[in-house]
Amino acid sequence: MRKKIVAGNWKMNNDLIESQSLITEVRGIIRDELRLDNVDVILFPTYFALPSCIRLLEGTGVYSGAQNCHQEKSGAFTGEVSASMVKALGASHVIIGHSERRQYFGENNIICNAKIKAGLEQELTILYCIGETLEERESNTHLDILKSQLIEGLNEINAQQLNNLVIAYEPVWAIGTGKTASAQQAQEIHAFLRKEITTKYGEAVAQRLRILYGGSVKPDNAKELFSQVDIDGGLIGGASLKARDFAEIVRAAQ
Ligand code: PGA
Repeated sequence: MRKKIVAGNWKMNNDLIESQSLITEVRGIIRDELRLDNVDVILFPTYFALPSCIRLLEGTGVYSGAQNCHQEKSGAFTGEVSASMVKALGASHVIIGHSERRQYFGENNIICNAKIKAGLEQELTILYCIGETLEERESNTHLDILKSQLIEGLNEINAQQLNNLVIAYEPVWAIGTGKTASAQQAQEIHAFLRKEITTKYGEAVAQRLRILYGGSVKPDNAKELFSQVDIDGGLIGGASLKARDFAEIVRAAQ
């Protein structure tokens, strides 16, 4: 039985004050209304709200993570933040390979692989995102694309390291568009990914690996998505910016 995960990816939203008030609101609802024994909750605010997030969530059981990291430990990389810096703050997770990073910042599978290794070396848990574009789905190349994102991203990652890694399947055509993949469409892809993991790492590892769905998850579709056998929770963008909506999605995973 895999423990579900509900993660909130705030992207480039909320300044420090806004972040602190949203974290406080989420914290209150979780404390008063929700139980976290069968779901891991993770918040991914901006880098500079991350120290506040860690402090405000101390003792709540809710995890904090960064939306990205650089693959090098330090050096002349203006504007970047390394995995070791994220770790030093006390964060536990990092998102790698989000489709916005791939699309707008030129991150490919090789760069994602280097970032995954850097994050694992710092004992961060990785949320590795993969997903096809609309064009790739319509030309029926999506399974090949997903397979190469998975296999190249996980190059030289061993079975033991996979214990600290979660896959997030996020079809690009469903992110921020209001178009969710149907529960059946998502389940089909999750089953495909688990099969690929089985081929590479064996049945036991594949059965342990958590695979999240992301792309317009909302309170009203979360339950159906999360009830699919191979969907182990969600990576939530827009709906994670509203405390009540996010909490309802956490509830749907319980
Ligand atoms: P969305 O974003 O929920 O707003 O579609 C998901 C994501 O990009 O992680």
